[in-house]
Amino acid sequence: MTTLIKGQVLAFHADPFSTPWADATRFYAHGAVAIQGDRIVGSGAVDTLRDRFPGAEEVDHSDALILPGFVDAHMHYPQTAIIASWGKRLIDWLNTYTFPEEARFKNTTYATEIAERALDLALANGTTSLCSYCTIHPASVDAIFTAAKARGMAVWAGKTCMDRNAPDDLRDTVQSAHDDSAALLANWHGVGRASYVITPRFSPTSTPAQLEALGALWAAHPDCLMQTHLSEQVDEIAWVRALFPSARDYLDTYEAHNLLGERGLYGHAIHLEPREIDRLREVGAGLVHCPTSNTFIGSGLFDIGLAATHRVGLATDTGGGSSFSMLRTMAAAYEIAQLRGRALHPAQLLWLATEGSARVLHAVNEVGTLAEGSAADLVVLDLASTPAIAQRSNRAGDIWEAVFPTIMMGDDRAVRAVYVAGEAVGT
Ligand code: GUN
Ligand code: ZN
Repeated sequence: MTTLIKGQVLAFHADPFSTPWADATRFYAHGAVAIQGDRIVGSGAVDTLRDRFPGAEEVDHSDALILPGFVDAHMHYPQTAIIASWGKRLIDWLNTYTFPEEARFKNTTYATEIAERALDLALANGTTSLCSYCTIHPASVDAIFTAAKARGMAVWAGKTCMDRNAPDDLRDTVQSAHDDSAALLANWHGVGRASYVITPRFSPTSTPAQLEALGALWAAHPDCLMQTHLSEQVDEIAWVRALFPSARDYLDTYEAHNLLGERGLYGHAIHLEPREIDRLREVGAGLVHCPTSNTFIGSGLFDIGLAATHRVGLATDTGGGSSFSMLRTMAAAYEIAQLRGRALHPAQLLWLATEGSARVLHAVNEVGTLAEGSAADLVVLDLASTPAIAQRSNRAGDIWEAVFPTIMMGDDRAVRAVYVAGEAVGT
């Protein structure tokens, strides 16, 4: 049984950071995505798809824009309830707001409640996949994967490991971090749409011995992703330098412990040294741009020019980030790029929020594109969701002018429908 999800359709055929955006994209004003069960089997002009799939059922979203569901490549679901906490910078913000909240996750009922809330907020915002940190508690990993399974979502997640510079009730050890991570990986990795991610929080909260143990775990499971933070704030970098006096730079604290690789995701990556930029490129590592977080916590201006040479994904960084919406996140990425003298095209913003993030997750065959064989995870955007947006998009001369007001001013009200694995979910 085939279903044609009809609307305006935008598809990418190349990366708009290395190919001019006009060549990288195809737009169908009368388009559709054809799905069978949980998979995409075609996309393009609706007439062509009717010929290919005679008798297909049709669902009409009229002039709404159909895209792959958004992919949030770095977030902390346990920080959902402390989003928008006032007045601190990174280290103070962690100590004041984040660690006390994460300590609450020793209560498994609370972990389940927040995991479900985080995923429902993601879906309401058109985010169909995400890559999340959990807390040090193994049950916090079970909570997010269980909630994701109930919603049919592809989710990447891992137990956050910390054995120093964190409160007593938020520290594990070298051994328990390794063993708990290994057990969770065995239980969850590749089960349904769950993928386990080895997760040392960042160098300041792991001893060299813990980094070493997690590097060994990664070497034993090279198909897993590894996620951590890198060079987010200047004060943090100075702290890393003091904690690791023999390291050449921040990245070297990971590299020296076998935590640098193609399947590594390095969140923020703002204040990089030339050697770090070169090494990240050489290994093909993933950088994750978290723009609302970088302005909210006052971290700095990521260089999106790196997207021409490095894998770069886009992320909310909930709750250091100030929004659950990947639309708001794209707007912040646009603003940060403007402050660095570059105007990102809407095609580049939309690509970062879908295929760019899927690339850092090494999951382009599963999420983030409309390619045949991918999961039927879709977001349908109303390009006139508020009076302010409508009066601007009504004047648009092309799809880019029509979608840009929604990127800059849109929120969950713009999300008209969401499909996860071929099923429409309530918005
Ligand atoms: N660096 C280490 N932990 C965190 C976190 O939870 N949020 C952000 N933004 N940066 C971090
Ligand atoms: Zn983070």
